[in-house]
Amino acid sequence: MYGVRIRRIMDETKKRVEAVGPVTAKICIVGEAPGETEEKEGKPFVGQAGRVLDGLLEECSISRSSCYITNVHKFRPRNNDFSSISESDLAASYRELEEEIMLVHPNILVLCGNEAMQAILGFKGIQHYRGSILESKYGKCIPGIHPAAIAREWTFRPATVIDFIKVKKESEYAEIKRTHRNLVIADTFAC
Ligand code: URA
Repeated sequence: MYGVRIRRIMDETKKRVEAVGPVTAKICIVGEAPGETEEKEGKPFVGQAGRVLDGLLEECSISRSSCYITNVHKFRPRNNDFSSISESDLAASYRELEEEIMLVHPNILVLCGNEAMQAILGFKGIQHYRGSILESKYGKCIPGIHPAAIAREWTFRPATVIDFIKVKKESEYAEIKRTHRNLVIADTFAC
């Protein structure tokens, strides 16, 4: 497992921001792409969004250093605009992300925002799905509001704290433990 090498996309004209964290991590946090500060420092989530993420992790007693933190795309997009990434570059980034996740094999994937959802689940809809435990071909995941969106709109934060509390609990095991429900439907309205 540790011998597996990830084929890294290289672009001499841009600075690559590598993932951080142990490959034995139980929690893998997937962001979109680095911003200016991340590009400068060469680490993911160290700018404003990173500070929001750090606050969430701390509040939910999740140690940042125990998490594997990565991005869908490892280079800062032109004008920080994710849609400026070409289809072929994005396809290569998806393949690379897939290899990373297979290597780490976390118990839970935290999908920060729509682009991470699209990469892992193949669909978007963060406001509908945030906090849900979903199954992906890479295992269990929970979509969450992107920390950058929380920095712009602080009212998203309380729900995200609840989502990260769930992340902590779900990180203890890889399976999806569904609550067994026995639904009894009345035949008539007259009960
Ligand atoms: N936003 C992201 O999605 N990733 C980072 O690394 C920083 C900001």
